[in-house]
Amino acid sequence: MISLSPKPALRGAGSFRVLDLKPRVEEFVVAALAGLAACPKAIAPKFFYDKRGSDFFNRICETPEYYVTRTELRMLDDFGPEIAALTGPAASVVEFGCGSPDKIRRLLAALDAPADYVAIDISYDQLVASAEEIAIENPDLNVSAICADFSAGFTLPPELCDGDGRRLAFFPGSTIGNQMPEEAEDFLQLVRGVVGAGGALLIGVDLKKDEAILNRAYNDSAGETAGFNLNLLHRMRDELGADLDPDAFAHRAFYNKTLGRIEMHLVSNDAQQVRLNGHKFAFAAGETIHTECSYKYELDEFADLAKRAGFAVRRSWTDPGHLFSIHFLEA
Ligand code: AVI
Repeated sequence: MISLSPKPALRGAGSFRVLDLKPRVEEFVVAALAGLAACPKAIAPKFFYDKRGSDFFNRICETPEYYVTRTELRMLDDFGPEIAALTGPAASVVEFGCGSPDKIRRLLAALDAPADYVAIDISYDQLVASAEEIAIENPDLNVSAICADFSAGFTLPPELCDGDGRRLAFFPGSTIGNQMPEEAEDFLQLVRGVVGAGGALLIGVDLKKDEAILNRAYNDSAGETAGFNLNLLHRMRDELGADLDPDAFAHRAFYNKTLGRIEMHLVSNDAQQVRLNGHKFAFAAGETIHTECSYKYELDEFADLAKRAGFAVRRSWTDPGHLFSIHFLEA
């Protein structure tokens, strides 16, 4: 259902609008049925992100092993003034996959009097909570929240971004790595269309590095990544009525050096059968459902990808440990 509703912020310090284009539950059933019937079995990572999945992800970001979030936050602080100078005043900022408000808060604080902020995410609860915080903290900012699956295509309602400044898309967290390289190129082209001529994209991209660091980041000792991965099975059982036991599966994540990506899988502990919507799916012991890829890029590999999508790299930054990169791309 589509609803564009003015929603007053709770403590009266600002207001924001919510546009609900959330994928319907049928989309999850269709993806789960197709993914279990496929060979090898695979389900897209966007289905991780219900409320519980988003909470797991937020806790992953605080584990000592997952350097990604910490490093990017520090870089936004360090390079904020340069980013602001490149962006110019009165920008309209459109954030794809907003998650927690930590990163956008830093970006907005660095920018020169930003005019609009549009947050887009598939996880409704987290999106609205985050947009509300930003609206309260920035009473002069025009804030909108759109719950949507932008991987399925996206058009920005123009009335949400009518400031005089530049359109700046913001795609932090290396979420671009969760797309196959061909999909990533299509997505960057979509963003290029959203920001238009003269627009820009600020994007965080995880770098290729020592495999041991990568393997540790996706196998944290507190088990948050395992819980995040297994949450997909909880969702299938609780929301789709699948007849399965999440404890009959285990988390597996490893760096595939040939393909330059972390792969996450759910491994069937024994031979078993899963039922969904009247269909039966047999698993051999050790057989997996592939749930996520997280591609890592060298600086020049990412610059080539951006170029193919119609962006030029104006500036790239890395942290001193060369773990992570942020790029300012111009359309
Ligand atoms: C959201 N995304 C960039 C995370 C990543 O690193 O690929 C998701 C994640 N999967 C396991 N840990 C974190």
